[in-house]
Amino acid sequence: MQKKFLTGQCIVLGVTGGIAAYKAVEVASSLKKLGAEVQVVMTEAAQEFVQPLTFRAVTHNPVITDMFAEPKSWEVEHISLAQKADLFLIVPATANIIGKIANGIADDMLSTTAMATQASVLLAPAMNVNMYNNPILQSNIDKLSKLGYGVVEPASGYLACGVEGKGRLAAPEKIVELAIRELTLSADWQGVKVLVTAGGTQEPWDPVRYLGNHSSGKMGYAVAKVAARRGAEVLLVTAPTALESPLGVEVEQVQTAREMYEAVLAVAAEQEVIIKAAAVADYRPQNKAEDKIKKDESEPLINLERNPDILAELGRRKERQFLVGFAAESEQLLTNAQAKLKNKNLDLIVANDISAVDSGFKVDTNQVVLISAQDQQELPKLSKMEVAARLLDKIVELREE
Ligand code: CTP
Repeated sequence: MQKKFLTGQCIVLGVTGGIAAYKAVEVASSLKKLGAEVQVVMTEAAQEFVQPLTFRAVTHNPVITDMFAEPKSWEVEHISLAQKADLFLIVPATANIIGKIANGIADDMLSTTAMATQASVLLAPAMNVNMYNNPILQSNIDKLSKLGYGVVEPASGYLACGVEGKGRLAAPEKIVELAIRELTLSADWQGVKVLVTAGGTQEPWDPVRYLGNHSSGKMGYAVAKVAARRGAEVLLVTAPTALESPLGVEVEQVQTAREMYEAVLAVAAEQEVIIKAAAVADYRPQNKAEDKIKKDESEPLINLERNPDILAELGRRKERQFLVGFAAESEQLLTNAQAKLKNKNLDLIVANDISAVDSGFKVDTNQVVLISAQDQQELPKLSKMEVAARLLDKIVELREE
């Protein structure tokens, strides 16, 4: 069986008493699905909102609710849990728990365990807007941030108390993403300067229309995300996509192949690794009309001209960089990809059969072959995040050689 992303990681999830407590169930469930061991500690108030049984069912672990309950083993439970944690998450974090941790108060199982842990602690506040804006709460958050606690910024919107404002718990996916980031900050890419390109370029022929392609940007964004989590300094040059900017990544938006060419070449020399996942249009309309083209009797004709090949140019200029290309092919996958590896002077190419089911454009999975001058490695069908992780592993291996 495939090892899951968070296998072997223990997350202590503290749940405090706010209406958003039910959203912590989704967080627990997502982390569990990713392979983590999730140990939930609930405050008394939290149990007024959600039953411990719900978390027990989702995590397959007993939920800790009482400091003085008969222990399952003769360990001091808050100490053993605190030591076991690879990450300590508190979702939702009320003003009360934030105040306690910031001021060293440990008067129940959760606050005691939080004080005893040496793991990273990530708090996701959720409360009424006026409580959130209260300078006492803000100074507690500030104090905790300075001490190295992570705080997931709450979102703005309609709050349970009936008003609009900041104080909604951040989206569970965002909390999970930040948790993963904390957990996978393995240092193998620490400080490495990486440029990633993503998305499909758009080549306009009037102010409302363009020639484009099916690229969703998911593969390139996954590479940028995973590299950042592993400590790289990532710049993502991206053509338009529907995706959110990945956390911890510097993002530069472009539209056309020529804009991408300019953006990439301006910073290429400073990069240690360049990964070109973007689907760059090989051709653009020769002319772009100033105004919207109106329909009339005649059939419009769009003449195309060649765009620069960004990757080939990078290959020509390459000195000590590690250069990675993608090859989207619908036939003769390996032969075509090998030719691109050689012609564009690359160190590695990710060959992608776009005719395969659940692979290539738009979907969340991908099936690729990693081809270098030394060897060829066929990966099974994996999520794009996992493909990104395997690609980065391969790059580490080849750079060490
Ligand atoms: N690429 C690029 N600039 C272009 C075209 C492609 O930088 N104008 C890069 C892509 O980002 C990708 C690699 O080259 O990493 C291969 O792209 P692909 O579209 O598969 O190949 P092409 O070189 O365009 O060749 P063809 O379209 O003939 O298959």
